Amino acid sequence: MTKLSVNINKIALLRNSRGANYPDLVKTALDCETFGAQGITVHPRPDERHVKYSDVPALKGKVTTEFNIEGYPSEDFLSLVIASKPDQCTLVPDLPGALTSDNGWDTITHQTYLKSVVHKLQSEGIRVSLFIDPIPERIYAAKETGTERIEFYTGPYAHDFIKDKEAAIHDFKYCAHLCNEIGLGINAGHDLNLDNLKYFKENIPGLMEVSIGHAIICDALYYGLHNTIQLYLKQLDV
Ligand code: PXP
Repeated sequence: MTKLSVNINKIALLRNSRGANYPDLVKTALDCETFGAQGITVHPRPDERHVKYSDVPALKGKVTTEFNIEGYPSEDFLSLVIASKPDQCTLVPDLPGALTSDNGWDTITHQTYLKSVVHKLQSEGIRVSLFIDPIPERIYAAKETGTERIEFYTGPYAHDFIKDKEAAIHDFKYCAHLCNEIGLGINAGHDLNLDNLKYFKENIPGLMEVSIGHAIICDALYYGLHNTIQLYLKQLDV
């Protein structure tokens, strides 16, 4: 089974645009769960333009499905994660001010550093996932850090899918088999949507979780949040 974790950053962006608590982030997260989401993801960025640091403890107390916090492992971020004890922390290499995550870790160059961060989080009982591109050497190096999972950065897949879906999935499929062989759990996220999700799921053996934000909120404008989550769950039910 592949879990659908809904990234609620765009809900926070909408709320922040008016300065009041509407839409209510915690209520939306709980509604996503009621509508079938099997996880909630937040990505508190240093400028707090989406989810704010102060949102995290409020969510942690209420979310009953898998709670995933993703972000760059700055000191502030790590303190927040350790205090909040989510089920999973996804480490991404984007620097402060990045518009969105647009590449995975170079797990070879940053191996020693990642090893220490992974260990720090795991010693607090938090599962770790490393955001990564589908490059075999980096998969092996990710395993060396001790992480339990990787999250494939699927932006390039979504981009190339429009032209040639077989070419788009090729490296992900190869690296997914590698992950299965060496015992790394597989998550995936970025630019997944109703067009490209089913094909991804069909071709990635052992896909444990997808984290999707932007497209779910865009689709919800037309179909409503409940219907949209059901539509995404259906894509994963293959
Ligand atoms: N995974 C990571 C690491 C991300 O940074 C993001 C975007 O915040 C996502 C998944 C979700 O991407 P999208 O909003 O395109 O679905």
